Amino acid sequence: MKIADDILYVGVNDHEIDLFEGQYVVPNGMAYNSYLILDDKIAVMDAADARFCDAWLANLEAALGGRTPDYLIVQHMEPDHSGSVDAFARRWPDAAIVATAKAFSMMQQFFGTDYAARRVVAAEGSELPLGRHVLRFVTAPMVHWPEVMVTYDAAEKLLFSADAFGKFGALDAGEPWTDEARRYYIGIVGKYGAQVRTLMKKAEGLEIGTVCPLHGPVLRGEALAQALALYAKWASYEPEESGVLVAYSSVYGHTKTAAELLAAKLREKGCAVETRDLARCDLAEAVAQAFRLPALVLATTTYNAEIYPAMKRFIDGLTEHSYQNRHVGLIENGSWAPTAAKGMLKLLENSKNLEILQPTVTLRGALSADSEAQLDALAEAIAG
Ligand code: FEO
Repeated sequence: MKIADDILYVGVNDHEIDLFEGQYVVPNGMAYNSYLILDDKIAVMDAADARFCDAWLANLEAALGGRTPDYLIVQHMEPDHSGSVDAFARRWPDAAIVATAKAFSMMQQFFGTDYAARRVVAAEGSELPLGRHVLRFVTAPMVHWPEVMVTYDAAEKLLFSADAFGKFGALDAGEPWTDEARRYYIGIVGKYGAQVRTLMKKAEGLEIGTVCPLHGPVLRGEALAQALALYAKWASYEPEESGVLVAYSSVYGHTKTAAELLAAKLREKGCAVETRDLARCDLAEAVAQAFRLPALVLATTTYNAEIYPAMKRFIDGLTEHSYQNRHVGLIENGSWAPTAAKGMLKLLENSKNLEILQPTVTLRGALSADSEAQLDALAEAIAG
């Protein structure tokens, strides 16, 4: 695949993986992107997961057509990309390795060597001339590890963006960008919005027509403009559009009935509503929906004097990714001592700028006239 006349795609698709980072379901697999710049000097942009080392090296050899790479540029040391760095270093012993100082420290940790005799240490703004292309390195700490840098090529107005602007899914998945990019972003770097905003600020000074991420498709034109607009919202913890997520867990169905009745009432009032059964859905997708929308209703049962485990895991998923700036409503259920609302509030106490909507709805087992009246009031508070 050609990215430009002298820039080729040499990455690999992974359809064997079940859980990315050991936790995210990826039904359409994953792509580990790598690019080859064929100039007077030849540079390879990042490697691939070790499980796909042979396939990546084969792609690289085919694209090189007998030439020898001068540089391997390692933008990020997470093993989904760096797992094949040492195999590259052994295959082409005269090639230099280019990375930040922190990345070389991590190479020592992962590979037992920091390639001292053949390394080029990249720093903020440092440049690597290849010929027509002059690569400029821009540090991007915590997007998504501390050693990360991205790389700008002014000749093609192209940014190699490391994990930024990536998505779940192999390149041949043929799926839209937004949903899997959102689930990826919130899961992988959602906690580091401030650092993403810093990187975007640095990128404002660059003329960028193409973004080449380490996962997902190359972005240009309208797709790139849309991705940039979404990143600006995600990194600022702003919702994308109006709507409500009703997220519930239910033991015998009464809490689910209340949650679905609230959803119906909200739809009658013209709200766009998503519902998720937290014991059965992909929690990472549910968390991403909570970030997409401005309002969230949490409905759960009291359990072991706390809250139901699926709801606890969901709220942990929100708070560990810095959930903030939203409206939250609560529905609790408890047959003898309902304390779920108190428990949910406790888990959310460190989240910034949450407005807790009134009233909290309390069920004592099944829905009653009183609790349905509370649902009406909550629906009014959300839609009103
Ligand atoms: Fe795709 Fe943070 O590695």
